[in-house]
Amino acid sequence: MEEPLHIEGGYPLEGKVWISGAKNACLVIMAASVMVQGQTILENVPRIRDVEVLANILRRLGVSVTRQEDNSLSIIVPEDVGGETPYDLAKKLRASNLLLGALLATRKEARICLPGGCDIGSRPMDLHLKGLSALGAKVKLDHGYIEASARHLQGNRVYLDFPSVGATENIMMLATLTPGQTMIENAAKEPEIVDLANFLNASGGRIRGAGTDMIRIEGVKELRGTRYAVIPDRIEAGTYMAAAVATGGNILVENVIPTHLYPIIAKLQETGATIQEEGRGLRVIGGKEILPVDIKTLPYPGFPTDMQSQMIALLSVAKGTSVIVENVFENRFRMVDEIKRMGAEVKLEGHAAVVQGVPRLFGARVKASDLRAGAALAIAGLMAKGTTEIDNAYYVYRGYEDVKAKLRGLGAKVR
Ligand code: EPZ
Repeated sequence: MEEPLHIEGGYPLEGKVWISGAKNACLVIMAASVMVQGQTILENVPRIRDVEVLANILRRLGVSVTRQEDNSLSIIVPEDVGGETPYDLAKKLRASNLLLGALLATRKEARICLPGGCDIGSRPMDLHLKGLSALGAKVKLDHGYIEASARHLQGNRVYLDFPSVGATENIMMLATLTPGQTMIENAAKEPEIVDLANFLNASGGRIRGAGTDMIRIEGVKELRGTRYAVIPDRIEAGTYMAAAVATGGNILVENVIPTHLYPIIAKLQETGATIQEEGRGLRVIGGKEILPVDIKTLPYPGFPTDMQSQMIALLSVAKGTSVIVENVFENRFRMVDEIKRMGAEVKLEGHAAVVQGVPRLFGARVKASDLRAGAALAIAGLMAKGTTEIDNAYYVYRGYEDVKAKLRGLGAKVR
């Protein structure tokens, strides 16, 4: 059982924090690397649990994954790469489902453990399967696995009913090695999609339009190993920015791409924070008080669902009432019950959380239910009077590299 994350609240965050590589870019790029002949070298890959789990899944498939001295990740795929994701590891990582498109593209068949429902909703894969079938793949559900084969693949037009990130990624990967032209309409536009397309193109792929809702892919014969640096993590950055505003601090967030953060910057400025570019980073200064704001989560470039819980924590001590509507996942208010134990006043009404600001929160023993809920409880603990202990802290370590060291570097009292 992991030690709880222990936080002494009431200290404004001050200092600098360096943002690591994006979890949701490097997971999909690691999956895509099984499509590449020769050695792939990935830079800026964070040392987080989810990366470790995916690396172990790749190793089970016979792929050699090794950290180099310069901290880059070397990935070498064997001729006879395995085709089945092992249940004991895949059940820990929904993103293992991104191996479906990559393994189909490479070995024309795959047996992918269907990810169970996770803590934020049922998370079906109907759009993934619709897209892969449109390219000629045969997919069926078989005892909790997706059994897929792709004997006769041909490019096609695919319309996504919802701009699903994972479905866009799986279809893009399969289409990259599928003869002919594939168009993905109503595609997801997240920066991590663009990073995947840039990685595939750097390896010899021919993808145009990533970042827009229409992506065109020309199938190629093969991909060659390359060296590629993953983009910085916009959600990690947003989380530290929200923590600085929540504690009335003043921090410099380094190694960010500001355009990826516009929705987060806009909302934090509405709460009264000052945010401006400084060098290669962003200066974030908390306002005298936190003003209430209304938020609707939407696919990119809307406000990211992965920042929703963190904003509820921040707004729990705003001077007024905020309404946060979750439009992407159907069950992503799991941290509300926990933060109410710290004195927050939040009412759930369907897809909306109504947050009535209180003067302050009080430390308590709480438990994380998913990665971003854990991050939100850490923000609450940083703001609260007294000590907060977060159980299931391993959720936080899944997606935040060196989180205790980074928080200490900002003057937080954590252990
Ligand atoms: C990715 O998940 C991210 N994970 C999530 O980040 C992120 O919250 C999500 O995109 C939305 O931005 C990774 O990239 C590894 P979706 P993904 O497919 O691809 C429904 C984090 O904290 N849907 O865009 O699973 C689905 O149920 C994680 O870092 C279908 O209905 O998200 C959900 O309601 C959490 N059918 C919505 O779409 C499908 O076939 C968004 O899902 C696929 C999805």
